[in-house]
Amino acid sequence: MTEETSCPVALITGGTSGIGLATARALHADGYAVLVTGRNPHNLAAAERALPSGVAVLRADAGVLAEIDVLAAEARARYGKLDLVFLNAAVARSASLESLDEQFYDEHFDVNVKGQFFTLQRMLPLIVDGGSVIFSGSRIAKRAFAGWSVYGASKGALLSMARALAIELAPRRIRVNTVSPGPIDTPALKKQGFSPEKLDDFRSEMALRVPLGRLGSDDEVARVVAFLASPAASYITGSDVVVDGGMFTTLPSR
Ligand SMILES: NC(=O)c1ccc[n+]([C@@H]2O[C@H](COP(=O)([O-])OP(=O)(O)OC[C@H]3O[C@@H](n4cnc5c(N)ncnc54)[C@H](OP(=O)(O)O)[C@@H]3O)[C@@H](O)[C@H]2O)c1
Repeated sequence: MTEETSCPVALITGGTSGIGLATARALHADGYAVLVTGRNPHNLAAAERALPSGVAVLRADAGVLAEIDVLAAEARARYGKLDLVFLNAAVARSASLESLDEQFYDEHFDVNVKGQFFTLQRMLPLIVDGGSVIFSGSRIAKRAFAGWSVYGASKGALLSMARALAIELAPRRIRVNTVSPGPIDTPALKKQGFSPEKLDDFRSEMALRVPLGRLGSDDEVARVVAFLASPAASYITGSDVVVDGGMFTTLPSR
């Protein structure tokens, strides 16, 4: 039987880039042993170079149950327990109703919904009583943008699922929350296929819509995740914490 690691242990899916990577750094600085996953070999290698040596980087496709099982076995063998599971991996692409196909739809729901659910199910035996589960939601679940129907629906499903799981896991004092970012400047923006000029235009246009006048940073979301995982948030469960600079509180600017 594996001996349990004495320090708190965090699993971050999609921890090789953006918000997940920043959270890995923040939690490591807070004294966690951290295990991050990703899928793209290039990003996995870059994360391994970028993160402190105490952070383990593993390839595991968040949408493939067989790979989630291997990940659970690996987490058990390395640490024997988990104090925090941050379910952050997601596919995020836009496409119109006319242009998107079944594969586009399935990939979003396989990774963003089914994969999150079964990752939590497979990790549950490892999660300590009093542990913390945090899902990456999105403000797009509640406010619409043309072209984001499938991604938005996947995040809406996740927010709903998280609330039910918060009730279900409360008897073990496992807190389940979601963090819903607004526009955060991460590599996800580049994945939208904009040219460099279009990307700058997009950033400027978004900043105009945010009352705080700028996009958020991955660190600003990471700090909220670290807070929600900490004893300081011991009475917070079933909540959705919005990190959007006030963007969706106000009416659209014209
Ligand atoms: N940035 C924003 O403005 C924003 C706004 C609202 C919500 N969010 C949410 O915040 C979370 C993080 O977003 P981000 O902006 O940090 O994105 P990002 O920089 O693109 O990072 C996404 C991470 O998810 C991983 N990933 C994607 N598909 C995966 C799969 N099938 N299996 C394993 N890992 C997978 C990626 O790894 P690979 O590179 O290896 O695929 C990467 O590590 C997501 O859930 C996103 O929906 C972001």
